[in-house]
Amino acid sequence: KDEQLEAIGEECKNLILSLPKEYGFGNQYFYFFQGFWTTAAQIQSIISFQNHFQAKDSDVVVATVPKSGTTWLKALTFAIINRHHFSSLHNHPLLTSNPHELVPFFELNIYTDISWQFAKLDLLNMIEPRIFGTHIPFHSLAKSIKESNCKIIYICRNPFDTFVSYWNFMNKIALNQSLPTSTLEDDFEKYCEGLCHVGPFWDHMLGYLKESKARPNKILFLKYEDLKEDINFHVKRIAEFLGCPFTQEEESNGVIENIINLCSFEKMKGLEANKSGVLGKIYDKKYFFRKGEIGDWINYLSPSMVDKLSKIIEEKLSGSGISF
Ligand code: A3P
Repeated sequence: KDEQLEAIGEECKNLILSLPKEYGFGNQYFYFFQGFWTTAAQIQSIISFQNHFQAKDSDVVVATVPKSGTTWLKALTFAIINRHHFSSLHNHPLLTSNPHELVPFFELNIYTDISWQFAKLDLLNMIEPRIFGTHIPFHSLAKSIKESNCKIIYICRNPFDTFVSYWNFMNKIALNQSLPTSTLEDDFEKYCEGLCHVGPFWDHMLGYLKESKARPNKILFLKYEDLKEDINFHVKRIAEFLGCPFTQEEESNGVIENIINLCSFEKMKGLEANKSGVLGKIYDKKYFFRKGEIGDWINYLSPSMVDKLSKIIEEKLSGSGISF
């Protein structure tokens, strides 16, 4: 029985009941909605978002595959955009708030009943540029986001590490709620079938990639590994893309380095604001900071799993320009 479905209004419930349903990643029911897999509660939020959200040209949307570096990219985007407001690093909001408290998700925080701490967010009067987060695939974003001049920064990550990060995250949440955890093997099969939140991952990546090629000024397509390799280059690239490039003076004053350090894994993980406290009752803030490394999958996946996922990546993404 899908507990989430019980809490949903009649009209939406009927729609959900008409959709293909599978038991997927993290012991959850998933429905195939608008070409991707998601949960009942999310469908309700996504429909509300699609019907109501009005984008402004100045908006910035951080779009991601879950566990691909959302927290990091939200922090970087917030720090880059607001660098003139918080030039002193002593009073920076990222020192006292988790990035998810500063950059709300459409589907998880704004258009939902379980709104974490954003219940009273006044969308019309938010300070501009407004920054939002989302895991929703490109084709299912609200029409006004696609049609306005607002900007989207997208990040994905190699599927091996994304899977391992996701599996650890979901199991911590399950343990926290005294729910059964799922085995690595079971969840791996679901992941490979695309049966996880906003899966399959390859369609998610390809949707944003296609649009970033068609409209490079609208969508910036990034990979976690590239940011890890050269964060300085990417911080500058993000600022240029957002129309707020760093000046020579800022560069020589160390503004870029300050942002990089403020948003670094080590710095963020060590902050009290990220070590304790809970988002939305079940997400301990510390769960968003695990290892922050490339290649931790080696400690989890068997050779046959690596072989299987490699083949899927090859089959689905070869020729697209996305490689890991
Ligand atoms: P690991 O589980 O591999 O450590 P998301 O933010 O999309 O939920 O992704 C979480 C992943 O990003 C986790 O990966 C987490 O440790 C890592 N992460 C969080 N903050 C980071 C940061 N500032 N820099 C680099 N990686 C970070």
